[in-house]
Amino acid sequence: FGDRSLAGLKVVVSAGPTFEDIDPVRFIGNRSSGKMGFAVAAAAVQAGAEVTLVAGPVGLATPVGVARRIDVRSAAQMHAAVLQAAVQADIYIGAAAVGDYRPQEVSAQKLKKRDGGDLVLRLGENPDILASLSAQTTHPFLVGFAAETHDVAAYAQDKLQRKGLDMIAANQVGDGLGFEAADNALTLYWAGGAVELPRAAKSELARRLVAHVAERYRAMRG
Ligand code: C5P
Repeated sequence: FGDRSLAGLKVVVSAGPTFEDIDPVRFIGNRSSGKMGFAVAAAAVQAGAEVTLVAGPVGLATPVGVARRIDVRSAAQMHAAVLQAAVQADIYIGAAAVGDYRPQEVSAQKLKKRDGGDLVLRLGENPDILASLSAQTTHPFLVGFAAETHDVAAYAQDKLQRKGLDMIAANQVGDGLGFEAADNALTLYWAGGAVELPRAAKSELARRLVAHVAERYRAMRG
């Protein structure tokens, strides 16, 4: 599989964190920079795909050649944007760090400090984008990410099964890798196979990931 391994295919990539608003000035977020997802979008363009990039709140320039970028803030917005884009897509690569919970109530006014008292935020579960897609009778080839601090292989393989994914890219967070870092290292798992992509710049790693996604896609869906 060479350069144009995704020619003729529509690929949706999600990237970045999600922000869940608490009030007009505060939110719950996470440390995803969006770099890995943006690198994956760029690599998919290089491989000849028509790419839709659904981006959480990040300050990154759109990679050259991306057909369409949809900016979102919350997990619910990302869920809606990805599900809509996925109707037309052959492959979905979920590289976003989607918040698992959101405040059940968003205050219209800035919350006031209550001297001496605790502030209790009640959080409700966000919908799982990958699980929603895999529950649909027809859906794109699904690639998920698993960022873990420990027991990476076990959690990743469990996630592959539980979310009904075609492939999962697992990485250990920490030691200068993962969130906010320029480098990453991944292990890819699919039903009946695995491959290690050793530490490299996210751009290089994204190219290798895309090559494996193309190979598995062709093997499974022709
Ligand atoms: O279970 P966990 O959140 O660690 O799984 C990570 C993978 O699941 C990522 O690919 C992420 O984009 C995806 N995800 C999702 N919807 C969520 C949470 C995570 O699609 N609500």
